[in-house]
Order: sequence, then C-alpha cells, then structure tokens
Amino acid sequence: MILENVTKPTPLTPLQSRLFNEYQVNVWIKRDDLNHPTVQGNKWHKLQNNLIQAKQLNKDTLITFGGAYSNHIAATAAAAKAAGFKSIGIIRGDELAGLPEKWSNTLKGASTNGMQFIFIDRQTYRKKDTSDYLNNLQQQHPNAFIIPEGGTNQHAILGFENLVDDLYQQCPDWTHVFSAVGTGGTLAGLIHFSQNKTKNRNQKTQKNIIGVPVLKQGEHLKSQINDLLDQVKIDSNSYNSNTVSWQLLTQYHDGGYAKQSPQGLNFQKKFEEQFGILLDPIYTSKMVYAFYDQLKSQKIVKGSNVILLHTGGLQGRKQTYN
Ligand SMILES: Cc1ncc(COP(=O)(O)O)c(C=O)c1O
Repeated sequence: MILENVTKPTPLTPLQSRLFNEYQVNVWIKRDDLNHPTVQGNKWHKLQNNLIQAKQLNKDTLITFGGAYSNHIAATAAAAKAAGFKSIGIIRGDELAGLPEKWSNTLKGASTNGMQFIFIDRQTYRKKDTSDYLNNLQQQHPNAFIIPEGGTNQHAILGFENLVDDLYQQCPDWTHVFSAVGTGGTLAGLIHFSQNKTKNRNQKTQKNIIGVPVLKQGEHLKSQINDLLDQVKIDSNSYNSNTVSWQLLTQYHDGGYAKQSPQGLNFQKKFEEQFGILLDPIYTSKMVYAFYDQLKSQKIVKGSNVILLHTGGLQGRKQTYN
C-alpha cells in the first residue's frame, strides 16, 4: 500500500428517515470520503495503482491534467507529496498563468503540496489524449508518469476491488448502488468487480449499479464506460451480467458541470442538516438528489437495500461556500 493513513473499511452508515420508511426501503451511505485525509474517496482508489506503477517504473514525477477546480488535481498533488513524487498539473485555460492571486482554492492547495502548473489554452488542452501530444510531453519529462484527466485509466479501475469487497461484506444483499459519474472510471470499477464477484456466489437478488453523470449530455459516457470495461475484462465467462446490471441517469446534471440550481443547493443543505453528513455540490449532492427523485417516482421497489456511495470531493465545497 503506497498511500498510508487509510481507513479500511470505511463505515457503511444507515440513514433513517420517515420518507425511507414510507417507501419501505433501507438506505445506507458508504462513507468513502473518510478513507484518507487528503486523497479522498474515489481518488484514493484511482491513484493507488497508478502510484505503484510509477514507482515500479522508477519515475519521480506525476503529471496529470484538469481544470482549475478539479478534485483530481488536488488529490494528485496530495498523493504525490505523500508518496514522495514531484508533481506537475497541466491546467485547462491559460488565463491564470502568472496570476497566482486569482487561483482557485484547489490550485492554491495543490501548489502548497508542491505541484508545479503548466497552463495551456483550451484548444491545446483538447489534444491532451492524442499520442502526438503525449509522446512530446513524455520526451520533455522522461522521468514522469503521465496520468490522464480525472485519473481514469486501467490502473484506476482496478483500484476499486477493495471498495466492492467492502460493499459485499458490509451489506451482502444490497440491491442498488448510486454513484456520481464524471469520466466513468469509478462506475466502471464498481461494475467490473461487482459482476466478477457475483459470479461465484449463489446470488438471488438483482443488483443495480446506477451512475449519475454530473455534466450535460452524459449519454456518451455509456460507450466510454463499456470501452473501459472491455479494457479490464479478463474473461467474459467470469462475469455475471444477469444479476448485476448498470445504467446511467443523465437527467440530474442540474445545469451542467460545476453548476448548481438554488433548488439543488437547498436539497443539499437539507440533507446535510438532517443527517449531519457533508456533500459536495459538484458530484455527491447530484447523486443523492437523483436517488431521492427515483424513490419518489417509485422507481425503487419496496424492500430495496440502497447504498449511496460518498466519493468525497469535499475540497470542492471551499470553492462554493467559503
Ligand atoms: C467527488 C467525486 N465523485 C465522483 C467523481 C466521478 O468519478 P469518475 O470520473 O471516475 O466518473 C469525481 C471525479 O473524478 C469526484 O471528484
């Protein structure tokens, strides 16, 4: 284990409410936001194996990509510091270059953790996944291990095994897991290991993994997630897609990435007050809202055991509410 200070397993906390009693469902929140003090939630799972790879290849620097408010940038800087790497963040948009006083709290925090920034214009940023761009970057930084935007690659997906293990141990009869979706890496990890695990069990309950894209036009993520699943699939016979299905609910973006309507904010505040658990406005709040809406629209049948996955992202609150 390369990142120390890990809480394992993170708590699966039951949520009690009259609404849930009325619809006769059991609801838990998986507090994965508590898994690490600085590399929180899904970021811990996504970075862990990437860091191991980087060490095995004797790299001394991590390079990754993101916007000025990216949780992934914040987490990569913190992970690099904790594991003894240098870090470079390639940031979308060159308007902040040379203006540190205008940086977001995310960038300021990452900089405090030692991350150097390269600000690039949006047109160049769009080339970040092309082999020309990446080869050139690698030549300029031969000792760097390059991690894609959002941290999503095969290593990241394979980092979700212990989380899925927790879910099966803490609530073997879960019927639904809700998770926020950005690039789809987290959902792919959940699907991959759930389908894999269910194979060897005498599984009777249908399990549904429900992804809630937080950006507009999230429909394209379906093929992206299928591609990611194909990349990590070992043997299709070892999967059980009959008892584990997955879907995306694309209608809960609430105006788009990093946008939140007054109703969305109100919902988040009420949830936080009722349960004493903080959410972030960009990801987890939209995911929890989606669950409530599905419940009230009677899409979740009586007797369901629902797990809401808290993927962290709480550093994003500072942007919005401080
Ligand atoms: C807090 C939080 N939850 C969920 C996600 C979505 O993860 P993914 O990009 O793997 O879909 C992100 C984005 O990386 C995130 O920061």
